[in-house]
Amino acid sequence: MAPAGNRLGQALTAYAVSMPASHAEKRSPDPGSTVGASVSALHDTHAWHPGSWRSHDASQQPEWPDTSALDEVLDHLSSLPALVHAAETDRLSRALAAASAGRAFLLQAGDCSESFSEFSARSIETRLRVILQMAVVLTYGAGLPVIKVGRIAGQFAKPRSAPTEIVGGHELPSFRGHMVNSEQPDERSRIPDATRLLAAYHQSAATLNLLRAFAGGGFADLRQVHAWNLEFVQRSTEGDSYDRLASEIDRALRFMAACGIELATEETLHHVEIWTSHEALLLDYEEALVRRDSLTRAWYGSSGHLLWVGERTRQADGAHVEFLRGIANPVAAKIGPSSTPDEVIALCDRLDPDYRPGRLTLITRLGVKNVERALPPIVQAVSDSGHPVVWACDPMHGNTFAAADGRKTRRFDDIIDEIRGFFTVHRDLGTFPGGIHIELTGDDVTECLGGAANVGEEHLRLRYTTTCDPRLNARQAIDLAFQVADLLAGAK
Ligand code: PEP
Ligand code: CO
Repeated sequence: MAPAGNRLGQALTAYAVSMPASHAEKRSPDPGSTVGASVSALHDTHAWHPGSWRSHDASQQPEWPDTSALDEVLDHLSSLPALVHAAETDRLSRALAAASAGRAFLLQAGDCSESFSEFSARSIETRLRVILQMAVVLTYGAGLPVIKVGRIAGQFAKPRSAPTEIVGGHELPSFRGHMVNSEQPDERSRIPDATRLLAAYHQSAATLNLLRAFAGGGFADLRQVHAWNLEFVQRSTEGDSYDRLASEIDRALRFMAACGIELATEETLHHVEIWTSHEALLLDYEEALVRRDSLTRAWYGSSGHLLWVGERTRQADGAHVEFLRGIANPVAAKIGPSSTPDEVIALCDRLDPDYRPGRLTLITRLGVKNVERALPPIVQAVSDSGHPVVWACDPMHGNTFAAADGRKTRRFDDIIDEIRGFFTVHRDLGTFPGGIHIELTGDDVTECLGGAANVGEEHLRLRYTTTCDPRLNARQAIDLAFQVADLLAGAK
């Protein structure tokens, strides 16, 4: 992991709040005002401003019924403290630069869609335990540092394929994530409510508070490696494999201590850094949380460390890409099976104009059937272009289908096989398979089929609690980590 330290001074420096005008003013700019000046600059495609996305096509934005209520919320958000800070965000950029060069591996994992109703210390802790366990398995198995990034503390908004959906035979406005509306199947619950943006901010702040406490406060100490195993995992074959690995780590630590290495003062053993990430979908919210670093004058998205554009919003000339291109955070783009090499290069040129290692992660989510055919031309084109991207595999979103009872699900074997295909393509082309992007939960859910517990279609109804896509449970996630560790060991 990239060392902390050279920006310590900056870590202590608060951001200057960057929103000089209210949101209502931005919608109808006064040509004489500062905001008017910046809005006129938007017509110059090269001038970036936190609101420059407004002159591009923005798909997937909710139709808020009351724009004055929205403006009030956005003004309030603009005045609130940053959720994440420039120095942390820059450390992630440096860590990702190592992944782009084959010297680290990205583990990005968490909920498909965080929930307001499932918000508790326990649910954060269980997700964190699984991520720490997976990271230990990968680090130990492959001998590489693992960059731990949660889909957490901000992953509340969902892109949808259609504006309406059929629930129980009724057509309703689509559920767009708890930051927008409720999944309850009635017309009223589906009306977008801007106060949910504030609730999402506050839930993100509380989640980050707990994550930072866990990461630095003893819970993530490597000497606790046995304790991370969740109860329902302990009794399983994956739990046994994990326990064996944990015992080997214990032995290695005892050995080092016996050799006179002072473990108590070895900082890296006692805390980890957990970064946050989410899809930057609701651009009003993201804009309201842009802050300017008072030392470097760079703009940062302060809603999360790593922000990405999804498969539905990755158009190089669209509003989402316009927003991401101006922030100093590391950014990512999902790449689906319809992506052409030219589109991907246009995206790289837009998001990584300076060819900066760690700036851009391409998360391919092609589906097990497409990966070995669709990935090579894209990887080849990007390699030829010289953009030093991190290549990550999302083996979830290209492998979703509806089970007989209508529930969305994914097969564990398809997920593993897409990752295998991803490793094969990168091996053949001499590029580094730099990470995985996984939807998971610490709970014993039955949402994805197969794996060691052999979840069948008949089990889906038992513990299917996701508000959006099906997630791996902790046993499936640890099983996956062992298999990826083997692939990674072979890829180094
Ligand atoms: C997601 O990550 O939950 C998602 C919707 O992904 P994609 O944009 O790749 O479909
Ligand atoms: Co999803």
